[in-house]
Amino acid sequence: MSKLTGSKKATQFTESVIREMTRLNEKYGGVNLSQGFPDFPAPAAIKTAACAAITDDVNQYAVTWGARPLREAVAREFTRRYGLRVVADEQVTVCCGTTEAMMSTMMAVVDPGDEVVVFEPFYENYGPDAILSGATPRYVTLHEPDWTFDPDELAAAFNDRTKAIIINTPNNPTGKVFTREELETIAALCRKWDAIAISDEIYEHIIYDGRQHVPIATIDGMADRTVTLNGLSKTFSVTGWRVGWTISPPSLTGAIRKVHDFLTVGAPAPLQEAGAVALGLPDDYYRTLAANYQQRRDALVDILERHHFTCYKPYGAYYIMTDIGVFGFADDVEFARYLVKDVGVAAVPGSSFYKTPGAGKTKLRFCFCKKDETLAEADRRMQKLVPAGVTLH
Ligand SMILES: Cc1ncc(COP(=O)(O)O)c(C=O)c1O
Repeated sequence: MSKLTGSKKATQFTESVIREMTRLNEKYGGVNLSQGFPDFPAPAAIKTAACAAITDDVNQYAVTWGARPLREAVAREFTRRYGLRVVADEQVTVCCGTTEAMMSTMMAVVDPGDEVVVFEPFYENYGPDAILSGATPRYVTLHEPDWTFDPDELAAAFNDRTKAIIINTPNNPTGKVFTREELETIAALCRKWDAIAISDEIYEHIIYDGRQHVPIATIDGMADRTVTLNGLSKTFSVTGWRVGWTISPPSLTGAIRKVHDFLTVGAPAPLQEAGAVALGLPDDYYRTLAANYQQRRDALVDILERHHFTCYKPYGAYYIMTDIGVFGFADDVEFARYLVKDVGVAAVPGSSFYKTPGAGKTKLRFCFCKKDETLAEADRRMQKLVPAGVTLH
């Protein structure tokens, strides 16, 4: 057999459906409510800081685990917000986005055959992350409509092969914000089975209706067994900058830094300087960010409900999971293709957030990190949509 083929690992997952929807959207000239990136400007202060860093010739490799001002800002802000001491030199590693932070962490902590617990539906990267790091994923369902998990189902997924659990709160795609009680249940299992919590908190500041973000690292006994992931992408509307980080217990930092170094050497140096400025913005910045997104959430829920979707209202992040059963299509992929090609709106098929065959087939995820006029244009285009069996006059 020819050796001119991809590796076994690379054949175990498909290309990203989310990024594919963006490409289809460009092809058909649609309104892109699929991939989660804002279509409005980033804060002026941080753009100015990035330009200044380049002008000042911050153009060479930063230290591999991250420029000191950014690492110190990450440590300072986590401690200030959550009262947990973080030592920049021992615990913070700057990566090329939270995406690389997750991959470096998985490769650093997981051996082939180790099990990793993943809540389903999940952000689609976690599937390939598990395959590439050799982990065996164990899926635990988040049950709609409020996306809670059954503590017994979760307990049954842990055993002495469990190396880690991946948590994402606020959650993509569901908009769920894990409660302290839920995190305590997870933490108890991590302590019982000596497992690591890998917590993707990239939507930390995008949270609604008075809900509170609780980092699992702050739960009793978890600081020593949690890797917290975050980044600039969502909080500062700079998904193309590719700056993220890990906050890890000192016992895991060395392994993460080694993997990170050989994967990417480092994140963009001038943008790390700008990141340190971003993290110094006043609290009002974060309040306005959340308030503006809450308005957009309400606007898109209203639009989607008027166009016959059933919405699962999100309490954090900037996505809405919907049910599309009423439209009578064979599955979510067929409906998503129709929506982008014939209606002119791109969204993500629900099945791309599930591993269980058949799951997500009546779901579609929309994002609302978009200007009012973008959402209004989607509204206009979706007037074409009718439930199955109804004809327009
Ligand atoms: C849950 C989650 N984690 C990570 C990422 C990617 O983050 P980054 O741009 O920092 O790589 C996304 C982007 O959509 C996401 O939704």
